[in-house]
Amino acid sequence: MAEKKKEDLMEKIVSLAKRRGFVFQSSEIYGGLSSCWDYGPMGIELKRNVKNAWWDYMILKRDDVEGIDCSILMAPQVWVASGHLKNFTDPLVDCKECKKRWRQDKLEDQSKCPECGGGLTEARNFNLMFKTFMGPLEDAGAIVYMRPETAQGMFVNFKNVVNSSRQKPPFGIGQIGKSFRNEITPGNFVFRTREFEQMEMEFFVPPEEDEKWYEYWKNQRLQWYHIYGIRPDNLRLREHDKSELAHYAKACADVEFMYPWGWDELEGIANRTDFDLKTHQEHSGKDLTYFDDQTKERYLPFVIEPAAGADRATLAFLLDAYDEEVKENGETRVVLHFHPKLAPVKVAVFPLMKKDGLDEIAKKIATDLKEDFTTFYDQSGAIGRRYARQDEIGTPFCLTIDYDTKEDNAVTLRHRDSMEQKRVKIEDLTRVLKEEIKNWKR
Ligand code: GAP
Repeated sequence: MAEKKKEDLMEKIVSLAKRRGFVFQSSEIYGGLSSCWDYGPMGIELKRNVKNAWWDYMILKRDDVEGIDCSILMAPQVWVASGHLKNFTDPLVDCKECKKRWRQDKLEDQSKCPECGGGLTEARNFNLMFKTFMGPLEDAGAIVYMRPETAQGMFVNFKNVVNSSRQKPPFGIGQIGKSFRNEITPGNFVFRTREFEQMEMEFFVPPEEDEKWYEYWKNQRLQWYHIYGIRPDNLRLREHDKSELAHYAKACADVEFMYPWGWDELEGIANRTDFDLKTHQEHSGKDLTYFDDQTKERYLPFVIEPAAGADRATLAFLLDAYDEEVKENGETRVVLHFHPKLAPVKVAVFPLMKKDGLDEIAKKIATDLKEDFTTFYDQSGAIGRRYARQDEIGTPFCLTIDYDTKEDNAVTLRHRDSMEQKRVKIEDLTRVLKEEIKNWKR
């Protein structure tokens, strides 16, 4: 895609997101709060569907992964042990002329300001964790941190899950939840924000099996994005070279997506070795080893971690789904080709006219379908306009109730992607729609 077209795409997505209720700027009526965003009625459904798709694939459909939900505030010692208090820093530089702040490691030319060309200050390490106080006293003993990743919740609960479930390595613990990072340069809409949601899973394995499982999870995660409709050309796996690895990682790969600004991280998959369990064992004084009854061996499991961002994935699904198609009559159709399971609305129901009882039949169908699908009823405007409004939010199926419905008890089912139409008996609708969703292919 040409550079201009790519820039346009981002602008179009931001504008559509606001116009159709996907994403709004936080506190907009007060001028907005930098890098904070609110999900609107369509956005919350899309993001919930993305999270459910992750939970379903990573936890519910598997016998070897358990879910948990940990508190955002954790004991401060957790961040000492994990290394975040000491190492979770970015090098911050200020422009001496225009006073803009930059992350030094992200600058192509680290000697001058990319905006005005001015000289830069020496880099200072800036800790990304948000600090707050627990209780009424704002003194050093009351400091707690907003978690910068959900992962530590899984490590500190390793023993609890082993003791309360019947899992033994190889097995995983996953959670979805908010994380907070005081990013120096947030931006690109919901790509990098200071408050965001992560979908992380820690897979605990016998040490000698780490490389096998690392390969396995890289493939699984790539496959997940394929299943939910991201075009393979827009995805790639990029293995980190040694200099990029975090202090705890033996290997790491990013699932990268082709954003309008180029290839960039969507999710990371890391081999964290036994770093986390070992350090929590040392700092807490609690035994976090696993004893294998069969081999009579005691060991600290290694961890393979697929760590995804719910907001970043939502953005990638939005960007990838967006299309403008020029119709035969020269008009442009804006359409989001979401996987039906991700689409905020699955079925829209329209009476051809809001009279002669067609509206009553349509309302009844919409109410019945709500049992199984997110359904939207719309009786206003020309039918073509109603289709266009649904295409723009990615509704995969529209049903029109017309005068023939009274005779044949059938409705017209229109597909978003092909725009093909077929008649379906009202009594078959739930079954047919379920099959359509199951068999959908991009
Ligand atoms: N536990 C490992 C970990 O947190 P990470 O690469 O720092 O690894 C994992 O984060 C994922 O979380 C990223 O791939 C991205 O999708 C998401 N993420 C991280 N920082 C983010 C931010 N500031 N805004 C939005 N998403 C973010």
